[in-house]
Amino acid sequence: MSIALDESKVIGEQKRSYVRDMFARIAPRYDLLNSLLSLRIHHYWRNVAAREANLQQGDTALDVCTGTADLAVRLARDVGTSGTVIGVDFCEPMLRLGWSKARKRSGQRQITLVLGDALQLPFASGSFQAVTVAFGIRNVVDIRKAFAEMWRVLKPGGRVVCLEFSRPRRQPFRAIYHFYFHRLLPGIGGLFSHRDAYTYLPTSVQYFPEREQLAHIMREVGFTAVTWRELTMGIVCIHSGVKP
Ligand SMILES: C[S@@+](CC[C@H](N)C(=O)[O-])C[C@H]1O[C@@H](n2cnc3c(N)ncnc32)[C@H](O)[C@@H]1O
Repeated sequence: MSIALDESKVIGEQKRSYVRDMFARIAPRYDLLNSLLSLRIHHYWRNVAAREANLQQGDTALDVCTGTADLAVRLARDVGTSGTVIGVDFCEPMLRLGWSKARKRSGQRQITLVLGDALQLPFASGSFQAVTVAFGIRNVVDIRKAFAEMWRVLKPGGRVVCLEFSRPRRQPFRAIYHFYFHRLLPGIGGLFSHRDAYTYLPTSVQYFPEREQLAHIMREVGFTAVTWRELTMGIVCIHSGVKP
């Protein structure tokens, strides 16, 4: 039996297990639903996020909560064959799909995917020129700790880039999108995958910090030059910052 998570009441280990089990269940249809529900716009969002990371050939990058490795594969283009991209995620079924995706892309042997937790990254301090996280930070139990871990593993001068769903602010788009996201999306998700997961999605976005609050958390952790930009009328936001 699957139950929907009440984000307002569930914290800590209960949320962690719920999230990991949920992604394990939806993994086989995850990429399909991403393309269907976003009308393939998610590729554009990831492209913009990759550009924000400002990677150069030969760099080493980390993609946290990498899932099926779409962003890791995209970053690999920027670091080239002399660079390295590591993706980390705590859900093995998602990573397995990422592994075969990365393998299929010829010339992208520089991608390594690792099973691990965003709150305890299995990497030495000061290892990466850039750390990215796409649609992952919303799912972690402790956002501040996750950013602190990203800060730790970055080299001085390195960039963090966070792509995440947001809440559009301008009417009438806000109301139209709210109807789609909260009423239609769970139904479409249920047709192709597990409805509870696609009920969790809008609920988790609803309880996620506002753009300004997220930027504040990043600054508190120690990032400087923290900025954000909205894409697609505020459906998603990309926050970035620098480790001084
Ligand atoms: C919505 S998916 C995003 C996947 C991918 N980044 C993308 O853009 O499609 C969220 C991912 O975060 C992972 N995740 C959530 N909490 C995590 C944690 N504490 N440590 C590692 N991975 C985590 C989940 O397993 C899942 O694969």
